[in-house]
Amino acid sequence: MTSIPESTLAEYKQLVAELNQHNHRYYVLDDPSVPDSEYDRQMRVLQEIERVYADVVAEDSPTQRVGGIALQSFSQIKHALPMLSLDNAFSDSELQDFERKVKDRLNQTSQIDYVCEPKLDGAAVSVLYRDGMLVYGATRGDGSIGEDITANVRTIKSVPLKLQGDNIPEILEVRGEIYLPKAGFEALNEAARAAGEKTFVNPRNAAAGSLRQLDSKVTASRPLEMCAYSVGQYQSKITPSTHQGMLEALVGWGFKLNEHMETVTGIEACADYYNRLAQRRNKLPYDIDGIVYKVNQLALQERLGFVAKAPRWAIARKFPAQEEMTQLLGVEFQVGRTGAITPVARLQPVFVGGVTVSNATLHNRDEIERLDVRVGDAVIIRRAGDVIPQIAKVVLEKRPPNAEPILFPERCPVCHSSVQRNEGEAVARCSGGLFCGAQIKEAIKHFASRKAMDIDGLGDKLVELMVDETIIFSVADLYELDEQGLVGLERMAEKSAANLVAAISVSKQTTLAKFLYALGIREVGEATAQTLANNFGAIELIAQASVEELLEIDDIGPVVARHIVNFFRNPDNLSIIEALRNAGVQWADIDLSSQDSQPLKGQTWVLTGGMQIMSRAEAKDALQALGAKVASSVSAKTNQVVAGPGAGSKLAKAKNLGISVMDEAQFMDFLSAQ
Ligand code: IVH
Repeated sequence: MTSIPESTLAEYKQLVAELNQHNHRYYVLDDPSVPDSEYDRQMRVLQEIERVYADVVAEDSPTQRVGGIALQSFSQIKHALPMLSLDNAFSDSELQDFERKVKDRLNQTSQIDYVCEPKLDGAAVSVLYRDGMLVYGATRGDGSIGEDITANVRTIKSVPLKLQGDNIPEILEVRGEIYLPKAGFEALNEAARAAGEKTFVNPRNAAAGSLRQLDSKVTASRPLEMCAYSVGQYQSKITPSTHQGMLEALVGWGFKLNEHMETVTGIEACADYYNRLAQRRNKLPYDIDGIVYKVNQLALQERLGFVAKAPRWAIARKFPAQEEMTQLLGVEFQVGRTGAITPVARLQPVFVGGVTVSNATLHNRDEIERLDVRVGDAVIIRRAGDVIPQIAKVVLEKRPPNAEPILFPERCPVCHSSVQRNEGEAVARCSGGLFCGAQIKEAIKHFASRKAMDIDGLGDKLVELMVDETIIFSVADLYELDEQGLVGLERMAEKSAANLVAAISVSKQTTLAKFLYALGIREVGEATAQTLANNFGAIELIAQASVEELLEIDDIGPVVARHIVNFFRNPDNLSIIEALRNAGVQWADIDLSSQDSQPLKGQTWVLTGGMQIMSRAEAKDALQALGAKVASSVSAKTNQVVAGPGAGSKLAKAKNLGISVMDEAQFMDFLSAQ
């Protein structure tokens, strides 16, 4: 083998150090220092050196994160210091009991400082460093013996392979949580569903399952993160006197901490911290199942010691559970605006994620088969944040003998037309179109909704009633309504009838984009409607466009192009548009020639978090008027993010991707400069 020239070796060492630094900035600090292209370029040079001089490969080289050969089994690692668990408090008074005991034991009446830490819901790990180099990573196991998952832990980019900074301890065992952010969990389950495979019940199981892969390449493909929260074995010349000091030292050595950790004085401040975090729980990009409070002074921790398997100096205050078991009472099949038939589980009501849940979505026929769920089964319901409650799992051990398989209907439960399923689509649809009462109702609700024609006072219940009473059959009939016709309806007094007729009349003045969106063309959401309006300027031109012409527009793919063409080919749809226009629905066509001067043409913006000066809708209108597309999620294509208070995962993602972010005040300045 050729020996490496001195200068190449120096270059190599420099590259390892720099690439590790970039990784740290990207994965630990969420603050990338170089563009991806520069990172890739350096990585290629490094790989080339390693290819030519295989014997120089450094232990902490970024190429050494992705393991090689799969293991046969995990070996065991004995924890020198046991990995403990925590006592739980389920109420403020239990928290006060904890503090009382702490003070009694310490014989102390003055206030105590606590570090408040979100209790991340993942898997506990122990990661050991000797003289700054990673030696092993282990699971908690039974607390005294865990499994050696070093190859898997090395794939997690927020785990340093080599410690950085000063005062590196001779021995440092870092304990922390390895977890899968919510977005990664959803994506993993989405992929499993698409492949007809088993899904994970929650991000915690997904993280634990990802860590226990014998093939570390599988682990490497999962977006796991590690946040450190304490230290086990520790040999060093310097020892901080507080837990917070220890956490700060960990940051210096290159670890990531949870961003919401905070040191407070007194137990009331702990309760206050709990309330603040509880409000943000749903918006955080990862699951937390409570708050951990730890006495900050390490000398006090030492005096308090342990009972059984838990420390006396820490406690976990739990949040309401997000998973509960209940019984599946039945399944109903709902028909949506486009005829999509969605099975909805009717459940024995259960308190989960802070609310009582009696329905959960079952998505589609495949989901029913995949879960193998039957009426009468005991099921685990998961309701995380604002996500619709889901059946995460069937508890097969509890299946009653008379549990009944669920039959997907062959005919629409509303209009009895046949149910069809297109090749390659998971969704089954009613073929009844506007003959189907359910589809008519949903189409009218959508038409009247805020982002469409914005008809004030025309709520879902009223639409259902009007269709059931055969007062209206289509959206065009809305504009024929008069007060007399409405007054007979349940709970419709003269005043509200007059208000509704007036609101319908006001809605006649609209924009081309809103009108297009209101029509409810499949896959044409607000953004696509705006794109169509901006590119064609007039509805006649859109109606005449071919699939090829539509495909020439950025952001319009073959599926939506097909839907648009099919929609305008259908004579029923054309006559509804004609009737609406005859009734006075109107908008200003868009002058395409003036658009080249639009300052934000071609840009995609994302609004996230709260807004105080403007409403979200106003901000969106303002951006669209300047030619920008306003998207709901952040991707590499996003040009600018406007983040208000409480912005969560979208802001984090923007930072990760190095996308420019402005707050509302900067946004207002920007708008006034236009
Ligand atoms: S401290 C001796 N801090 O909760 C203290 N644990 O029952 C032991 N966890 O499985 C743990 N976030 O993995 C601590 N900030 C945090 C934590 C945390 C999550 C998990 C931990 C363990 C369980 C404790």
